[in-house]
Amino acid sequence: MTDEMLVLANENKRRAGVENVEFLKGEIEHIPLPDDSVDVIISNCVINLSADKDRVLSEALRVLKPGGRFAVSDVVIRGEMPAEIRQSVLLWVGCVAGALEENEYRSKLASAGFEKIEIEPTRIYRMEDAREFLSGQNIDVDAIAPQVDGKFMSAFVRAVKPQRKEPCCGPTCCQ
Ligand SMILES: C[S@@+](CC[C@H](N)C(=O)[O-])C[C@H]1O[C@@H](n2cnc3c(N)ncnc32)[C@H](O)[C@@H]1O
Repeated sequence: MTDEMLVLANENKRRAGVENVEFLKGEIEHIPLPDDSVDVIISNCVINLSADKDRVLSEALRVLKPGGRFAVSDVVIRGEMPAEIRQSVLLWVGCVAGALEENEYRSKLASAGFEKIEIEPTRIYRMEDAREFLSGQNIDVDAIAPQVDGKFMSAFVRAVKPQRKEPCCGPTCCQ
C-alpha cells in the first residue's frame, strides 16, 4: 500500500536472493489482479485494519481461482468488546480495535461466498498481556485490562472459494 513498505519488501527480496516474487502496489479493498487468478491468499495482521471488510472479502473471493484458498492470520475478537477499546487509536494501530468478532468474521466470509470456513486460535490474550500492551499509554489500564481478558486472539482464518458448478447438461448430470 505504501512506497516505504514496497522498498522494504524489495530489499528483503534482494537479501533473500529470491527471484520468483513480484510486489504490486495496491489496497486490499481494490486488489490489482484479475478475477480467478490466484491459488492462495495469505496475509498477516492487515485485514483487521481495513474499514471495509466486506469489500476486502469480496475482493479476495473475486481474485481467487475456484477452489482457491484464503489462509490468513488476523486478530479476532471473542464476544463483546467494550466501546472504549474499539475507540482507542492506539489499539487500532495495534490491530485490536478494528478486529472482527469471530462469529461476525464467519458470517462475513459466508456472505462473501466462501465455504469450509475455519477460525483456529493461535494465541488467546490474557489480562496480563493487555496490561503490558496498554501500559505507558493514556489509558486506565486497571479498568480496561480485566474487561479484555481472553477476549481477543491471534488466529488462523481459513476458507475456500467454491468450485464452479457445471451447468446442467442432460437427464443424468444433475443427479
Ligand atoms: C501490522 S502491519 C503487518 C505487516 C506484515 N503483514 C507483517 O506481518 O509484518 C499492517 C500492514 O498493512 C498495510 N495496510 C493497512 N491497510 C491496508 C490496506 N487497506 N490495503 C493494503 N495494505 C494495507 C500497512 O501498510 C502495513 O504495512
